Amino acid sequence: MRKKFIAGNWKMNKNLKDAKLLAIALKNKLAGVNNVTIAVCPAAVCIDAVAQILKDTNISVGGQNIYFEKEGAYTGEVSADMLLSAGAKYVILGHSERRQYFKETDEIINKKIQTALNVGLLPIFCLGETLEEREAGKTFEVVRTQLEGGLNNINSEKMLKITIAYEPVWAIGTGKTATKEQAQEVHKFIRNWLKEKYGMEISEKVIIQYGGSVKPSNAAELMNQPDIDGALVGGASLDPDNFADIVKFK
Ligand code: 13P
Repeated sequence: MRKKFIAGNWKMNKNLKDAKLLAIALKNKLAGVNNVTIAVCPAAVCIDAVAQILKDTNISVGGQNIYFEKEGAYTGEVSADMLLSAGAKYVILGHSERRQYFKETDEIINKKIQTALNVGLLPIFCLGETLEEREAGKTFEVVRTQLEGGLNNINSEKMLKITIAYEPVWAIGTGKTATKEQAQEVHKFIRNWLKEKYGMEISEKVIIQYGGSVKPSNAAELMNQPDIDGALVGGASLDPDNFADIVKFK
């Protein structure tokens, strides 16, 4: 049985003071919840403080991006080792906002995944189609291309350290959630792709999260689908009550 994994992507929200307050609230609200793996991903500058608050709790911390070079003259960038040393366990990579606004390609994302794994950060690898692509009937084709590119040269051992997050772009921040059937269909497709590439045993172990307007009211029906193993939550993760209700979905 795969353990559900629910992560909050705070995106570019919460300054240091507010990030600390949110972390404290979550620590209290989620104390003792151990049937679900939980993580929060604040902005890079808040990771250290949030990680200290959440030290020795059931909530892990993640980053939202890294640069693929190990270190050096890359002004403004943050390395995998820096995130790790600040207290991050996970890192979100390939988010559609990075693909769209920062022109990240599958090749760049693949390099970032390799770099993260090399230092011991666990990637949450995001992918998903745009509305235009879905309406043109290209969802599976797009997802397959993103899987092939993003997971190029990833062997079985590495694959077991990666979480995949299926986030249809048209459902992100729009309030428009994929139906449980729409999401399950793509999750199943992803699992079959993993099965073809890595075999049955590994494909059954990889966690595939759904992301896109997840809220307390729709969390359970999504999470109860056979191939949906958790959620990557944006907007609703900024409110401690909403995030806690999602984690405690019934
Ligand atoms: P929303 O939950 O705000 O739609 O964002 C989803 C997301 O992008 C998580 O990474």
